[in-house]
Amino acid sequence: MEAIAKAHTNIALIKYWGKRDESLFLPMNSSLSITLDQFYTTTAVQFCSCLNQDLFILNGNLADDAETTKISKFLDRIRELKGEKIYAIVNSNNEVPTAAGFASSASGYAALAAAATKSIGLDLDKKELSRIARQGSGSACRSIYGGYVEWEMGEKTDGSDSYAKPVMDGQEWDLSILSVLVGSKQKKVLSREGMKRTVETSPFYPGWLDTVEKDLNLAKQAIQQRDFDLLGNVVEANALKMHATTLGANPPFMYWQSGTIEVMEHVQELREAGIPAYFTIDAGPNVKVICQQKDEAAVRQALLNVKAVQDVYLCHSGPGVTYLPVSA
Ligand code: PMV
Repeated sequence: MEAIAKAHTNIALIKYWGKRDESLFLPMNSSLSITLDQFYTTTAVQFCSCLNQDLFILNGNLADDAETTKISKFLDRIRELKGEKIYAIVNSNNEVPTAAGFASSASGYAALAAAATKSIGLDLDKKELSRIARQGSGSACRSIYGGYVEWEMGEKTDGSDSYAKPVMDGQEWDLSILSVLVGSKQKKVLSREGMKRTVETSPFYPGWLDTVEKDLNLAKQAIQQRDFDLLGNVVEANALKMHATTLGANPPFMYWQSGTIEVMEHVQELREAGIPAYFTIDAGPNVKVICQQKDEAAVRQALLNVKAVQDVYLCHSGPGVTYLPVSA
């Protein structure tokens, strides 16, 4: 049976940074995100006994061996769960400017988890889907839900209690998230490698772990109270702290480019001028700026005036994973 699923990317407000188990994708800390409406992946999966290997088509082109192997390893987990060794055709389209350096792994693995489990004949609830998506890319477990989402790290060694949960519907407090494109160079250090190196070598990593839970609780409190300045301050500080751990790693690395810093400075200037806006940055050079809807046009225009900025995509909160009808 063919199944098609659509999932949106998310931006971490409180970051997931570091794994305690590499193969099960178990995080060192819990994290919090907003799912975005503008960027998503649509994936069709069809398992068939007629195939003798998995085929992966990405944005209309047959993927290379390395990409196909990654997808196959993920499908192995689903085959194991079902207890059937059959292969699949996976056809995935990203409505994410991937070439621009915006991550698509969260929406990609969330959509793949939903489509592949349905196609193989497993009927899973969202909690189970979140656990599976986590094992493709940690942040993907949060993209199963829309709005504000928390990934609870869990305690068990088998990962059964490590999955995402909805915190609040996005419509209840619909903030604006501006995705600011400053660089499209391929990342030098992928998040998987960056996390590992930081956990193993950075003397700043214990400082991260000591404070991240407090940040998460403050952010959840801010969301419940719709306190924008409280949220913005903790989100920005949490992102800076995560990036600081990479500077202490051996060898050190950083995700920022000069344009990243220009945008950060500009956001701080906007605040000084009385417009509340805050930034956050994932494992790459681009910046996400958070503001309230009443300020979104002014913030967008101000960001477009920054020399290093190539484009600004205006996003709001988006939905969780959905299935699309399969045409006959
Ligand atoms: O799940 P990954 O491998 O894409 O790692 C995500 C890491 C960050 O984007 C930096 C933080 C996060 O919580 O999304």
